[in-house]
Amino acid sequence: MIKSMERTIETTDQRELWNRQGHIVEAQQFTPEFIEAIFEKAQHYKQILENGEFPERTYEHYSFFNMFYEESTRTRMSFDRAASLLGMTVAGTEAGAMFSSAAKGESLEDTITYLNTLHPHVIALRHPEDDSAIRAAHVSKVPIINAGSGKEQHPTQALLDLFTIADELGQTEGLNVVIGGDLAHGRTARSLAYLLSMYPGNSLYFVAPDSLQIGEDILAHLRSKSTSFSLGSSVDEVIGQADVVYWTRTQLERHDQDDLEIKGPDSIKQIVISPREVSAMQDHAILMHPLPRDSKNYEITPDVDKFKQAKYFTQGGNGLPVRMALLDRAISKSTQAG
Ligand code: CP
Repeated sequence: MIKSMERTIETTDQRELWNRQGHIVEAQQFTPEFIEAIFEKAQHYKQILENGEFPERTYEHYSFFNMFYEESTRTRMSFDRAASLLGMTVAGTEAGAMFSSAAKGESLEDTITYLNTLHPHVIALRHPEDDSAIRAAHVSKVPIINAGSGKEQHPTQALLDLFTIADELGQTEGLNVVIGGDLAHGRTARSLAYLLSMYPGNSLYFVAPDSLQIGEDILAHLRSKSTSFSLGSSVDEVIGQADVVYWTRTQLERHDQDDLEIKGPDSIKQIVISPREVSAMQDHAILMHPLPRDSKNYEITPDVDKFKQAKYFTQGGNGLPVRMALLDRAISKSTQAG
């Protein structure tokens, strides 16, 4: 179960260049200082929204393109809402694979190059290919925000996940974090693991059947950061010690159908979080999920929602202030701003 090693082309220099240019491509490019600044701003916006107030429409006349080539509810809508609340005009596609010129064979590079000629200030991109955000950032003069790329990265989700942990538990270090579900195909678990490895004392427990376990590239990264981790397939063994339980859906859309037929349906049998499992959680612990969950085959059963540990809808809601903060930062970096 050895997955491909971490790509080597994304060097430290490349990540620093993305940071200077305002691109958000992958979770490894963040620093604790960057994250702190985003969280401070996000907390500011969260308070405004919770007070029923409106933020300053600071970015009237600024333009945001929301380009989605894959299904989404939370990420697309929260970016749309975040940009609107800040006064930006929003344009884009919610089904780019079908209704943009990608359907006629246009390359992502040509699309992004063309979109730049319309003078947007920020472009968010969700795309099924793992390297899509890297390729888009390579040709774009305005900041690209990776809104989910293939099975590898979802950096803005990782930020809102960590924001939720910080908001609920008051800390991002020294935590026992159980991460479970389909870790082989889930980009949110991978991006969150990168962020958690930036803080001292975090211990990660990856819980999944062997066929769905986290990639070796993530484990290599954790070793390089001296972040302690373990792998297992029993949630019962670890859930009682967890401060955070982060559960994920089986990403059937990313499974190779031929491979699935050879291995059989049991190979992707999901470990389900039900009231029995949540009852074993510590009082202060939180249960997270990036959502959506699968209503045909629940990985967290709906009767868990009433438990105080269940924070997945709060977590989803945190996407709005975090993405407002990210748009703020992207515009400050946009070469076309002002
Ligand atoms: N968590 C997340 O990315 O959800 P959507 O696919 O609905 O955007």
